[in-house]
Amino acid sequence: MIRPLPSVAALSPYPMADPAPPGSIALSQNESAFPPSPAVAEALRRAAEGAELYPDTDWTALRAALGAAHGLDPARLLCGAGSMELIGALIRAFAGPDDEVLAPAQGYIFVATAAAQAGARYVTAPERDFRVDIAALLAAVTPATRIVFLCNPGNPTGTAIANAEIVGFRERLAGDVLLVIDQAYGEFDGQDAAPLFRLVERGDTVVIRTLSKAYGLAGARVGWGLFPPEIAEEVRKLISPGNVAATSQAMAVAALADQAYMRRTVAVTAARRGRFAAGLRALGLTPPESRTNFVLIPFADPETAAAADRALKAAGLILRSMRGYGLGHCLRATIGPEPAMERTLAVIAEVLRGRNVDGPGVR
Ligand SMILES: Cc1ncc(COP(=O)(O)O)c(C=O)c1O
Repeated sequence: MIRPLPSVAALSPYPMADPAPPGSIALSQNESAFPPSPAVAEALRRAAEGAELYPDTDWTALRAALGAAHGLDPARLLCGAGSMELIGALIRAFAGPDDEVLAPAQGYIFVATAAAQAGARYVTAPERDFRVDIAALLAAVTPATRIVFLCNPGNPTGTAIANAEIVGFRERLAGDVLLVIDQAYGEFDGQDAAPLFRLVERGDTVVIRTLSKAYGLAGARVGWGLFPPEIAEEVRKLISPGNVAATSQAMAVAALADQAYMRRTVAVTAARRGRFAAGLRALGLTPPESRTNFVLIPFADPETAAAADRALKAAGLILRSMRGYGLGHCLRATIGPEPAMERTLAVIAEVLRGRNVDGPGVR
């Protein structure tokens, strides 16, 4: 019998989104509603011709493109196979058994998994009305806190706090606690990220971003972060050399070069999100104000959420159950194609009217 380490055997698998059967529409993983810039396909074709070679382990062209797009020094950037890889490596590098990783109650759930993988304790501070509560986070810091993980805008809430609040938080947080700011949805937020990037110069703060959302490259697995050099040095030891495929690096460079396309898709998504949220409010629901490409939908109770989930699935619409987040009364809807959003509203309306609660028939 081959036995895993007890610490590994004790881990729970990461709670994935429900699979989307063929013919259904996945509104469950906050993927872009749009394909990437047309320039990406041509870059992929050209990169495929050199696929016999290993990728650039220093992400040279990709870092240059990221630096140019954000006005940052490429030498301060690291790239990951999705930002998940960087989040996992950061936690493994700076938190272990008996250490605490602190996050807001409705924090990005992969952080809890990554903390468990590192053997660290995942601790949460309450939020208020689905919003990060900085005072509660500060109050939850203990001598064991090694990392505070702050996602702004948040997933699954979609809400954002002012970047100035994060700067104030950093100033009040002890200098030996690493602050990781996850800006996976930063492009949808519209706040100037420069004050957050400047925090990195302190040496105790990291900003993480991804091309999976606004750039429509979730399938390419490209994340990146702005790191203080001493922290980057440790994280690099924990990521695989050649972690980002050459084809993915080339696709990312092409996507970054087409900022106008990215901005257009973000604007169209935001307009759709506004209509969808207004539709939910017209049904008497109270979604928190989203600054992302998804909307959290709180129902009266977990039973209504489960009934809505069943009816939506029967209609071929796969939303994300929030049970794994401890929010059983909510569903999360990624903003997808307009007809899918209209259909989602129609199915929810039917469920709320008390029909089709117990089964399909809403096709
Ligand atoms: C807040 C947040 N951070 C990070 C990620 C991971 O993104 P990726 O690994 O695709 O870069 C996600 C994906 O949903 C997310 O919502």
